[in-house]
Amino acid sequence: MGHILVTGGAGYIGSHTCLELLEQGYEITVVDNLSNAKRESLRRVERLTGRHLKLVVHDVRDRQALDAVFARASTPIEAVIHFAGLKAVGESVEKPLLYYHTNIVSTLVLVEVMLDHGVNRLIFSSSCTVYGDPASVPVTEDFPCSCTNPYGCTKLTIEQILKDVNRARPDFNVALLRYFNPVGAHPSGDIGEDPNGIPNNLAPYITQVLIGKLAELQVHGNDYPTPDGTGVRDYIHVVDLARGHVKAVEKLKENPGIVIYNLGTGRGYSVLEMIRSFERASGKPVPFAIGPRRSGDVAANFADPAKAGLELGWQAEFDLDQMCRDSWNWQLKNPDGY
Ligand code: NAD
Ligand code: WQD
Repeated sequence: MGHILVTGGAGYIGSHTCLELLEQGYEITVVDNLSNAKRESLRRVERLTGRHLKLVVHDVRDRQALDAVFARASTPIEAVIHFAGLKAVGESVEKPLLYYHTNIVSTLVLVEVMLDHGVNRLIFSSSCTVYGDPASVPVTEDFPCSCTNPYGCTKLTIEQILKDVNRARPDFNVALLRYFNPVGAHPSGDIGEDPNGIPNNLAPYITQVLIGKLAELQVHGNDYPTPDGTGVRDYIHVVDLARGHVKAVEKLKENPGIVIYNLGTGRGYSVLEMIRSFERASGKPVPFAIGPRRSGDVAANFADPAKAGLELGWQAEFDLDQMCRDSWNWQLKNPDGY
């Protein structure tokens, strides 16, 4: 099938994507510095698939080490999926240089080394955050982009850099995948999201409340212009998201140049709907209190995923209740993460 290099492959979305790629018969090498992941995630991917993958532990910004990965690959690397990077919005406001350095320099070094080795297919983890505060929903890929925090600005800048590289080198193929809000876990409950410290995102916060690690959820505002006043997002099952990457790998084999896809379900759910779905999944109430709005939050953001449907032959299959059941199953089986 081919050999794929996955940067950041030990992380949440990366580990689920490695599993899907191994199941499709791809050979995988992961480069991850384990700054936000554990080796155990990939051991479990190997156990679940009955297949082996190679993990090389170093920073993507380490050019010599990255060069050696390409030079010494047992079979030539044909494409790269670039997940590695930092992703916490709040932390990026506190530590902008860390975010710009990690996310942007890692991408520059990666693309330079790819070009040195004649590898011309790259899939990049972008984000719905590049739409800023969208004028309307659902958003299509041609909506105007903007950024409101350093994390989001790294994604927008990297998108621009990759567009420029493609303009200079039209044979360099890039898929910019704009993920909406990934939640859920593999149905086995053996791999999932394992945040450090107090989670920033809604789903892991709720599962930690349900398991008793956190006292109650703060709902960040109920005065938005949405049906119940709470924020609306396009939550997407991480397994669906992972399968979108397999489709993107196949797409790049057609040498399409630069392609951009929203990966979302096309449906928005509110914070209160999310709470109710987790209550159904767990059979327990989610204690919550209504708090003020969180700075930087938008009222509603959800995708029009039609383009990915048409051009990738991909669409999300799992609904919100399945996402919440799988998140809860992972939390119950792994109360302290990996
Ligand atoms: P994650 O933190 O679980 O995974 C990122 C991985 O990259 C981790 O395993 C970490 O150890 C590794 N890493 C970080 N910096 C590195 C470096 N310099 N060199 C090598 N490895 C490094 O995050 P995730 O949720 O799996 O996100 C993956 C990608 O998707 C990120 O680029 C993120 O910005 C993007 N994304 C995530 C979301 C989300 O809500 N989870 C949404 C949109 C986009
Ligand atoms: C979802 C909803 C909150 C926590 C972030 C990044 C975005 C992308 C996805 C990477 C919102 C509400 C949350 C809580 C709450 N990541 N909420 N109480 O903010 O849509 O997007 O992750 O690219 O760039 O910004 O996700 O999970 O933080 O919030 O009420 O304790 O839940 O206000 O309406 P968000 P989230």
